[in-house]
Amino acid sequence: MRGRQEQGVDSMLRIEHLYKNYGKFRAVNNLTLHIPQGDLFGFVGPNGAGKTTTIRMACGLMLPTAGNIIINGVDAVAHQREIKKQIGYVPDFFGVYDNLKVREYMDFYGSMYRMGAKEIQRISDDLLELVNLSDKKEVFVDTLSRGMKQRLCVARALIHNPALLVLDEPNSGLDPRARVEMKELLLNLKGMGKTIVISSHILSELSEMCNSIGIMDHGNLVASGLIEEVMDSVFGSNQLIITLEGGQETAVRIANEHVGVKVTSVGEQEIRLTHSMTKPEIARMIGEMIAHDVVVTGFHKQEGSLETLFMRVTDNEEEQKGGQENAAESNH
Ligand SMILES: Nc1ncnc2c1ncn2[C@@H]1O[C@H](COP(=O)(O)OP(=O)(O)OP(=O)(O)O)[C@@H](O)[C@H]1O
Ligand SMILES: [Mg+2]
Repeated sequence: MRGRQEQGVDSMLRIEHLYKNYGKFRAVNNLTLHIPQGDLFGFVGPNGAGKTTTIRMACGLMLPTAGNIIINGVDAVAHQREIKKQIGYVPDFFGVYDNLKVREYMDFYGSMYRMGAKEIQRISDDLLELVNLSDKKEVFVDTLSRGMKQRLCVARALIHNPALLVLDEPNSGLDPRARVEMKELLLNLKGMGKTIVISSHILSELSEMCNSIGIMDHGNLVASGLIEEVMDSVFGSNQLIITLEGGQETAVRIANEHVGVKVTSVGEQEIRLTHSMTKPEIARMIGEMIAHDVVVTGFHKQEGSLETLFMRVTDNEEEQKGGQENAAESNH
């Protein structure tokens, strides 16, 4: 799928040929995905794509119909209990915790991992500091704002120092400031060496913080890898847009004289081309155009956004039926 494993980057999460059927409906279809240690991986896809289903299987909360999941060297399917030590999971739905204060809530989760009282206190103090909730220790969890609850959820998911942190839509319902805080927190954790998987529908935010992504659609992983690599493979690399006021013909002629340049469209005020030039070569070509009286008003690289990428690789409702029929036919 991508070359980083061959380059010696170890996978923190390896998913091989994963399937999940709910009755006759196939929610996850032959998903293979390797996430290297230290990645901040964005998991995206339309509603119902199968992200939560995949995440729940990886976290040992649900058995796959078929396939393997290895986290930090531990087989998640064979060792559902053991895998919970490797993973910190922030679910898409925050439960109700009527009579628990923030400190008691952290104690409760710490004790689930058989940690001693002193250790729990030391670690939860550090974690509450990290998520900026140090002054809320004696406050009831249910009275926290949504953004605070999400941050508390991250703190409790980290109490046993897991190698992998998985967050299922941690940003839904958060205001802009809370979202920025969550982003900073995750970048902070990445800086501390954690491997992080985050599913979200807020693509602009993911593109700001993730170094790699996977896009799911109707149970299939339709694209994955380093963000720039996925962008390049979908959009084709090196597109240049030159805006101009007259002189199109001359500009096209000069562009075509350069090896590897292909003019893809010519409009009244711009020409678009693909190329394999270096930056100085581009500058020289533009200079040549200007020297031949082309009025160049600007030039820029065509940047693909995660939104356009998402729209390009995910489909509409039509394909849904196909997935269902497959599941009915197959033995998985
Ligand atoms: N327990 C279940 N029983 C039957 N079908 C289910 C169950 N859970 C999920 N599904 C179906 O599986 C598909 C994938 O659901 P999933 O929750 O994994 O999607 P998702 O990518 O997380 O979507 P969203 O972005 O809305 O959270 C959907 O069609 C859903 O209806
Ligand atoms: Mg979901």
